[in-house]
Amino acid sequence: MSLRSQLEYRVSAWAASHYPQVGIGPWVRSCADPRHGHFQTHLPMVAAKQTGGNAREIASRLAQECPPPEHWEPPEVAGGGFVNYRAKPEAVSSALRDLRQDASLGVPKENHPETIVVDFSSPNIAKSMHVGHIRSTLLGDTLARMLSRLGHRVIRINHLGDWGTQFGKLLLAYRAAGRPPIDPKRAIDQLEEFYKQGHLEAESDPSKMEQARAELAALQAGDPERRKDWELFCQRSADHFREIYRQLGVSFDLEKGESAYHEELPGIVEELLKSKVAEVSQGAVVISNPTISEEPFLIRKSDGAFLYGTTDLAALRSRIRDLHANRIIYVTDGRQQLHFRWLFDTARRWNQKVALEHVWFGTILGPDRKPLKSRDGTPIKLSELLREAKDRASKILEQKRPDLPKDQLNQKAELLGIASLKYADQLPGRNLDYVS
Ligand code: ARG
Repeated sequence: MSLRSQLEYRVSAWAASHYPQVGIGPWVRSCADPRHGHFQTHLPMVAAKQTGGNAREIASRLAQECPPPEHWEPPEVAGGGFVNYRAKPEAVSSALRDLRQDASLGVPKENHPETIVVDFSSPNIAKSMHVGHIRSTLLGDTLARMLSRLGHRVIRINHLGDWGTQFGKLLLAYRAAGRPPIDPKRAIDQLEEFYKQGHLEAESDPSKMEQARAELAALQAGDPERRKDWELFCQRSADHFREIYRQLGVSFDLEKGESAYHEELPGIVEELLKSKVAEVSQGAVVISNPTISEEPFLIRKSDGAFLYGTTDLAALRSRIRDLHANRIIYVTDGRQQLHFRWLFDTARRWNQKVALEHVWFGTILGPDRKPLKSRDGTPIKLSELLREAKDRASKILEQKRPDLPKDQLNQKAELLGIASLKYADQLPGRNLDYVS
């Protein structure tokens, strides 16, 4: 029995014999402020209210007549009629020992398990994962672990950004350079350089911008050579992501990128037009709802291109249709809140039967309270952050454990560095921005 249940059992027995009119509780909760104790009961206040008695007197009687379990501190009467309780370390360790006997560690299984998709991490191909992605990766992993522990069928999905407009510019520069091999050791840096170059050219020269658009259109139309280049970019990026996930101990059931939904997009737009959820406006297809925002939700541009949101609609439908999801949880940065409000509202009007949640998190800020950037002004790369966590852990270990041989020290430093990073990342309130 948990510490709380042990105490609850005693307090409610006392309540039942002295104040049967108060009902069945529960009467014990955790103390909001641990300085006051581990647990607290408000039973005396409720009893006083119902019988017209004095809450503090009832509290002293409860404290005297109803001792806590063995190895607890004597209870203390507090405030207007609370009783506070604290377990001694012996009681805590024996409760932990009991818990270990139970395969589910005292966590009861859900009576009505659901099929829950957790869409998390979801970085973009040909770009390095940055510190923002760590929060999505770790929060998503934690949620998925907790929900499976409760007995739900959890499907962890990495919704890779492999179909965005970045490929037009990337292909432009990559092909202009003669389609050189991509070195697996520095693949992402190389791809980012090509992208930057393509971006600069396209932004300064309208004819290059036109070419970048044509590259993207050719890729999306299935041109074999561009398709091959794109596959190489995806493969090299996947290797980079895999190494990060390995270090973090995170895995997925399904890595399904945005490109996988490409063929469904035209049909979805037609369906939404037909059911009058969407409408044509200045050649584009939009969904309006002024209670969300003045600007409508764009699902097809006037040039025929589809958007991030259109793909999300297709993914949502496929998760219900093919994976039988009852619930989908999306874990992203708070800056995507509006996007998800639109997505969820559209899904509802489109009659998609599924519970939807956006679990968003604040931004990691630098000491200047601006989004954390590295010295050259780009977002800090996740691989650098992991390296730094390990370096710091190994410095501490070198001091504290000079006896350890080098390879053991490295192993422990990796474990300690990554674990501390995970802990520190999940410690602050999820929706707060936090300063690193
Ligand atoms: N690729 C996006 C990003 O890096 C996140 C995708 C989140 N998932 C989704 N279904 N929209 O910001």
